[in-house]
Amino acid sequence: MIKLLKFILLILLVVSHQSFANPSEGRKLFVEKRCVTCHVIGRGKFVGPDLWKVGNKYSKQDLIQWISNTDKLYEKYESRPINKGYPPMPNMNLSTSETLRIIDYIDSLKNKIKPNSSVLLEGRVRNFSDDSKEEYEIKLESVMAEKIISEKNVKTKDGYFKLKDLKGNIAYRVKILHDGIEYSTDKFYYMPEENIKDVNLTVYNSTQEKEVVEIKSSHMVISYDEANNNLLFAEIYNINNISKNIYVGYNSLIEDQRKVLRFSKYKDIEDLSFPHRSLETFIVSDDSIIETIPLPPGERRVVFTYSKKLNFLGANLTKNFYNNIDSLTIIVPENKINMLIEGLEFTKSKSDIKELSDQSYVTYSIDFIKIGDEINLEFNKDFQSLISQRSFITIIFILVVTLILIYLYKKKLLRIK
Ligand code: HEC
Repeated sequence: MIKLLKFILLILLVVSHQSFANPSEGRKLFVEKRCVTCHVIGRGKFVGPDLWKVGNKYSKQDLIQWISNTDKLYEKYESRPINKGYPPMPNMNLSTSETLRIIDYIDSLKNKIKPNSSVLLEGRVRNFSDDSKEEYEIKLESVMAEKIISEKNVKTKDGYFKLKDLKGNIAYRVKILHDGIEYSTDKFYYMPEENIKDVNLTVYNSTQEKEVVEIKSSHMVISYDEANNNLLFAEIYNINNISKNIYVGYNSLIEDQRKVLRFSKYKDIEDLSFPHRSLETFIVSDDSIIETIPLPPGERRVVFTYSKKLNFLGANLTKNFYNNIDSLTIIVPENKINMLIEGLEFTKSKSDIKELSDQSYVTYSIDFIKIGDEINLEFNKDFQSLISQRSFITIIFILVVTLILIYLYKKKLLRIK
């Protein structure tokens, strides 16, 4: 699973060409490494304890271990959890340099923070629809570790709203209803130095015309996990709503659920996950993954990852396309696994992805995929990796021993009573 997570991060790095060079590295890591989803600094208890002045509580060595390897710490103190009233903290597996940068950041806040300060939320509904309503009911959800803890409703005035004296040690989400569609912000957190947030919710006319949605590009990044004999996949779709309206798909009356965009899914896959979104925003069935969140004008990226167990020789996967896709790029480490594509024309090239230079990747590009197209991907382990497999050696061994026994028996050197 750790491997899978690392793999996902790598993919996001490669595909979005993000750079991690930034002056306030520690602050950034506090968000990227998800500390922010469980800890606040100077605002009290959240999922985990407040980290204000946590440096005074532990030796530097223990503090490093809290952040880089809780398993070791729990072993050392023979207690899990260590703080009463909290669950254990997961092992975050951070490198020492990342850990030190986070400690520097926590340290730098020691004297900057006014403890237990409350926070303010301001916002505006921007109405781009024909229904020129100005008063909305805003729903504010307080969220802790995916659970909604409390809800609060307030009315907007000329489209504005303002909520004072909110607690800073909880995550929030803001929702409104317009023309039968629920608009929601992502879950957001207040950073330790942050006291005010400004959120916008933009509402549109809705459309059900599928033509407004285009998939310009899609990536399928494949990696081979030798230890578990697994193929790991990440599929990334760059989707664009070219209209000025929100695309709402259609409502399935039977399932009482909105269906916005449908993606094909292989049948026998495992560990399906959505790195940026919660599972409940998708409907997953045997052969498809359906997006349920309406698509506002502009771009959206949908990412999902999964793994596929290989059998002795490899695997065979058939994919049907439910959308037109301008260009699909498949990236495969061909020094570890060979891939054959059948069904559509492709161009093949050696990959020049800098971040993946330790493996030799090959890129396949397929242009102008149409709804109803189908490809078959056949994966074959190359002979070397096959030989290195213990099961293969065992089978050869048993075969040789059997042959020797038969030989000895035939030559009457071996008698069976
Ligand atoms: C899923 C929630 C979660 C995440 C993510 C998380 N922590 Fe924790 N953390 C906890 C909990 C719960 C505890 C208390 C566990 C215990 O006492 O055994 C804790 C304890 C700590 C402590 C010791 C606090 C004390 O007062 O004893 C430190 C330091 C810490 N976390 C830092 C971090 C940092 C830095 C990150 C990000 C790299 C992080 N945590 C990510 C939940 C989390």
